[in-house]
Amino acid sequence: MIITISGTPGTGKTSIARILAKLMGCKLVAINKFVDEHKLSEGKDKAGSKIVDVAKLKKEMEKHLKKFKDDIIIEGHLAHFLRADFCVVLRCDPMVLDKRLKKKAWRKAKIKENVQAEILDVILAEALANKKIKCLLELDNTMLAPKKCAKKILRLIKKAKPHRENVQWLKKYAKIISN
Ligand SMILES: Nc1ncnc2c1ncn2[C@@H]1O[C@H](COP(=O)(O)OP(=O)(O)OP(=O)(O)O)[C@@H](O)[C@H]1O
Ligand SMILES: [Mg+2]
Repeated sequence: MIITISGTPGTGKTSIARILAKLMGCKLVAINKFVDEHKLSEGKDKAGSKIVDVAKLKKEMEKHLKKFKDDIIIEGHLAHFLRADFCVVLRCDPMVLDKRLKKKAWRKAKIKENVQAEILDVILAEALANKKIKCLLELDNTMLAPKKCAKKILRLIKKAKPHRENVQWLKKYAKIISN
């Protein structure tokens, strides 16, 4: 079983994936690390984020997955582009996300870009367009601690049905987008 965990930066991918991997006793691949180890980064953008060719990432990950028959969790903000039995898209209220990102001491422009991407459901839309995902699980963790979130993911995996939450950031925060 391949489980990918994606979401806008700061939505809690790494925190939740680590707990989930412990609960399931399975291997965890952090795409950030994988990109470095396989030299998949093609420089950095203006905001200082690594530029990654998604086609190359997919190809390299396929090679890696072929060697691997057990359950695996792959986390990172590009994880939803990969094939998966379950793809978790983490969501977080943009105002809360803003606070989480400010703690990371990122540049203002980068924080704004990510908050706007979350409001506009960018990653969810990309995941919905990926036909190689068998079951999509959207999960709002604004009010849910990482451990509870990981346990909820386990329950949803057992149900094996697509799951969506009532996320309507655009309705709530339309003004921020126009500023
Ligand atoms: N469910 C949660 N509730 C409250 N705080 C959380 C939750 N999940 C993560 N956090 C906090 O939010 C911050 C970002 O979490 P984390 O690094 O796991 O996100 P990420 O999605 O992996 O980010 P990145 O894309 O930058 O790697 C951390 O300070 C973490 O402690
Ligand atoms: Mg992370």
